[in-house]
This record gives sequence, C-alpha cells and structure tokens, in this order.
Amino acid sequence: MELKLEDPSLLKTECYVAGRWVGARSGKQFSVDNPSTCDVVAKCPEFDSVDTESAIGSAKNAFNSFRKTTPRSRATLLRRWYELMIENVEDLAYIITLENGKPLADSRTEVRYAASFLEWFSEEAPRIYGDTMQATNPSCRIVTLREPVGVCGLIAPWNFPAAMITRKAGPALAAGCTIVVKAPGETPLTALALAELAHRAGFPAGVVNVITTLENTADVGRILTTHPTIKKVSFTGSTGVGKLLMSQSASTLKKLSFELGGNAPFIVFEDADLDAAVRGLMASKFRISGQTCVCANRILVHRDVYDEFLVKVVEAVRAFVVGDGFKEETTHGPLVHDRAVAKVHEHVTDAVTKGARLLLGGEPLTHLGPNYFGLTVLADMRPGMKICHEETFGPVAAVFAFESEQEAIALANDSNVGLAGYFYSKDVTRCWRIAEALEVGMVGVNVGKYSPCTFIFFEKPH
Ligand code: SIN
Repeated sequence: MELKLEDPSLLKTECYVAGRWVGARSGKQFSVDNPSTCDVVAKCPEFDSVDTESAIGSAKNAFNSFRKTTPRSRATLLRRWYELMIENVEDLAYIITLENGKPLADSRTEVRYAASFLEWFSEEAPRIYGDTMQATNPSCRIVTLREPVGVCGLIAPWNFPAAMITRKAGPALAAGCTIVVKAPGETPLTALALAELAHRAGFPAGVVNVITTLENTADVGRILTTHPTIKKVSFTGSTGVGKLLMSQSASTLKKLSFELGGNAPFIVFEDADLDAAVRGLMASKFRISGQTCVCANRILVHRDVYDEFLVKVVEAVRAFVVGDGFKEETTHGPLVHDRAVAKVHEHVTDAVTKGARLLLGGEPLTHLGPNYFGLTVLADMRPGMKICHEETFGPVAAVFAFESEQEAIALANDSNVGLAGYFYSKDVTRCWRIAEALEVGMVGVNVGKYSPCTFIFFEKPH
C-alpha cells in the first residue's frame, strides 16, 4: 500500500541492533495491521530468544563506553533526538495513526508529548546529583553517587506507541544506561521510526536497540526478565503480564519500574462545577477510545446531581464522531483489535444483565469494521458488575450514584489496583481530604487528564 510520508525512510521494517538494521535469524516476519481497515501495512521481524540475546549483547558492549560519557554529551544526544522528533511530527503521527488507529490530531499530540520526555531528560542528565549524609562515626563521611545500573530492558505498550518508549528511554539514556526496547507487537513501526531518529541523533552503535516480535512475545519477555546482563526492566502493560514479568525478574533480582492496569474512580461531588466535570470526564474516559491505563473506569456521581450530570454526559458523548483516524471529522478511532471489542462488549452486557441502564452505544459498530465499538454510557451501575473490578480499556462511561462522601470513598477504594483517580469539588478542604483518602498513585483534582500536562494537577480557570 502507498504510504503518505514526507520522509519515507522513516518507515523501517527491520530491527535496530548494534547500530544496524537486521531481520530475525529465522527470517520470520509478522504482519502489522491498520486497526481501522484491517489492511496489512507492513511486516516486521519475528525476533526470538536468540535474536534478543544478541541485542542484549550489543547493549552490553556499548555500555562499557557509554557509561563513561559525560552527562553533558548525553544531554546533547537526547536533545538532538527530541529535535528530530519535533521536525518529524507529521510523519511520526501518520505512522501512529496507521498502526494504532487513534485520530491524527491525537497522534500529533502524542508525538509532542513523547518528545517532551527526551527534552526533559536531556535537561536532567547534567543534574544527576548525589547526597551527603551525616555519619555516626566521626572519622567517616557518607556520600551517595548515582551510577548507571547497566543494560535496561524496556517493554512498551501499543496505546502510546511513541510516548511510552521515550518515557522509559529518556531517563535510562540520561543516566548512562544502554537499552533494549521490545516494541509492542501491534505498533512496532513507530518504535522503529524512533530508532531511526536515535540513529540520526548520533547515539553510538549498541546504545539504543529496538526489537520486534509478536508470536514470540512471551519468550522475548522471559529473556529480558531473566538474562543476567539486564539490570533493570521497565514495563507498561496489564497487571497480569506485570505479575509474570515481576516473578521472572525475581530470579536475578532486577530493579523494576512498572506501570500496570488501573480501574480509576472519577468522583463528582454535589458541589462540583458540572460542566467542568463533564469536560474532564470526556478527556479522561474517552481519550484514545478509553484505551489508557489512567482512564476513568468507575464514575461515581452524587445523587443530588446525578440526573443532570447524566444528561450532560450523554449530550457530550453524542457530539463525538467515531471513525477512521485519518478522517478530519473523526474524534475517536477503532479499538486496537477485535479481542478488545469482545471484552468491552462483555463488560457492557454483564452490566446491563445485572440491571444497569444503557443510555448510549453498547454495541460494536460493525459497519465501520470489526474493531469499532460505539461510545457507551451506562447508568445505575452497582457493585458486583464486572466493570467494578476489571479494567474495561474501552469507551464505556459507567456511572454509579452515591449519597455521602464516605460512601464515595469506600466505593472508589474498593479495588485491588490503584494507578489513578479523579474527583471534582469546589470545596478546598474537601479537595485535600479526598486527595489524601483516595488509595491511588495519582490524583486529578478538578482535572480529567494528567498528560501531556503531567505536572499540572489543577485545571486552570476558564
Ligand atoms: C497510560 O497510562 O496508558 C499512559 C497515559 C499517559 O501517559 O498519559
């Protein structure tokens, strides 16, 4: 198929190892599909465990010299990589939409968001400080020095094909580590385009390695989490896979940074600015058709404003346009594959069977293709429904009513995962109280989206 890239050399279909483009030893490849049309857009190497070991070896060789480079020189490389991403926003966005399906405008936002991690860590590299501490023995001095840990295995997800790679690669490279990136099987082309830009930025051979696999994902994941050369693993993905990778990593006691599943509560108190809460909910719940780990999944609304809020939510969702990500009018694209559609459908059916009210959507949009699901609003949700305890990872706003603050907190915290949470209230003392009571890692107060403004947690007044 003909691809509309300003720089066609950004479309790479080989892995990047030791500064060279290589195929799998076996010659095997897997297909990369456009989730909107289901067309095959490219084929990428099916790396296996031996191929992966060679990438790890290349990163190890490069580490011996890269670890001794100055932080300033690493900052320059990262800065250049950042600039190249910004210079190629259109092509990178095109590749993201092609293989992930998200609307082009969202892909452009993602590229800038992704590049910002490289910019940020280029600025952090020269500021890697240690600490001094007071010793109890008067003849001793205690000083901590920050050293690069070694080769890092970075396992990235498909929902942010660029940003989740740069968020992992930026700090590792700034510190002087070398990396083996396992690209997501669904979206390897973005990862390979980033490798090409890292190459152009001048990273020495072997410092950045990007490998692709689909069928052998479990094997490659096992090697990355058990190989003694890998000192740290960073993973973003499902809780189930996270548990497996964590247990495998225990064999060599690796350092781990994991971002796993969430089931974020989104609470709307009776004193909230309802219009702001609806805007926040649209940004949180429906961003990339509900396929982000930090998405709201359980929307808890005070009984006094429940009916009014539901009317506003339905109206806001109706204004969205689901379709192909390359079409100008599209606000929401397909889900990543038909298994995602099946899971979302199962959650909706389960809720409706157990008494939830379907206000909008609720069905696959088969006229658009097998990976499309209608943007859905469910009311009168109750504990015991699947959505209460499983991450839907799809475009379903599931709304529960509550009567008291205590009840809202209990419902919100009734989850075994706690990545993110959100709430809306105009009462300052309540804001602090609830922010501290929510058992989640990130709290959005009067804001529905942490990213790309990751560090601004309070929405600016309009
Ligand atoms: C994710 O949690 O899926 C990534 C979200 C983000 O960085 O905005």
